[in-house]
Amino acid sequence: MRTPVIAGNWKMYKTPEEAEAFAAALHDTRLPDGVEAVICAPFVALPALRKALEGTGVGLGAQNVHWEREGAFTGEISVPMLRAIGVKYAIIGHSERRAYFAETDETVHRKLKAALAGGLVPIVCVGETLEEREQGRTKEVVRQQVEKALQGISAEDAARVIIAYEPVWAIGTGRAATAQDAEEVIAFIRDTVASLTDASTAAAVRIQYGGSVKPDNIRELLDMPNIDGALVGGASLDPASFIKLVQAAEAGDDR
Ligand code: PGA
Repeated sequence: MRTPVIAGNWKMYKTPEEAEAFAAALHDTRLPDGVEAVICAPFVALPALRKALEGTGVGLGAQNVHWEREGAFTGEISVPMLRAIGVKYAIIGHSERRAYFAETDETVHRKLKAALAGGLVPIVCVGETLEEREQGRTKEVVRQQVEKALQGISAEDAARVIIAYEPVWAIGTGRAATAQDAEEVIAFIRDTVASLTDASTAAAVRIQYGGSVKPDNIRELLDMPNIDGALVGGASLDPASFIKLVQAAEAGDDR
């Protein structure tokens, strides 16, 4: 059975003080044990958040990472730097980074390899644009992104990867994919992982859905057999909403 993983992607929101206030609100509630909960915060909020999250069971994630360990890469942050401050996860290849910061399947692959080698859990984002969906190219686009990201990665390493299927048209629009549409693509992603590795690795990989996930639509998404959690932007910024998302993931923890 795959443990569901609910990851908040705070994007460019929250100062260290605001992150601490969020974490303080989590201390009043006991989060369910059967769900992996993660917050991916801006780099500068991570040290404060690490301390503030102690005792909550919520893991710490970054939103990006560079593939080299160190060097002349102005403005970048490496895997060992993140590990040194207690970060366990890193989002890689979010569509906003692909669209605005020139991330490609090649850089996503390099970052994925570096994260795995350095002991970070990568949350690799894939997903089609509205135009690609309307052209009937969703599976082709997603297959290519998954294949390039995982190319040459061992089955053992691939099993540690979290994949987030995030249709670009669903992000921040309030227009989530239907549970059926998300399930269809995510089952296809699992088949793609099987073809790159083997059936047991594909059965172990966690695949999230992301794009306008809210407390009131998460349950139907997670009820789908292949959807193992969610990557959540807007609805992860408010502690009460984040808690509801994590609690909803437990309610379906019977697969
Ligand atoms: P959203 O963002 O939940 O605000 O749509 C999801 C994401 O970009 O990861």
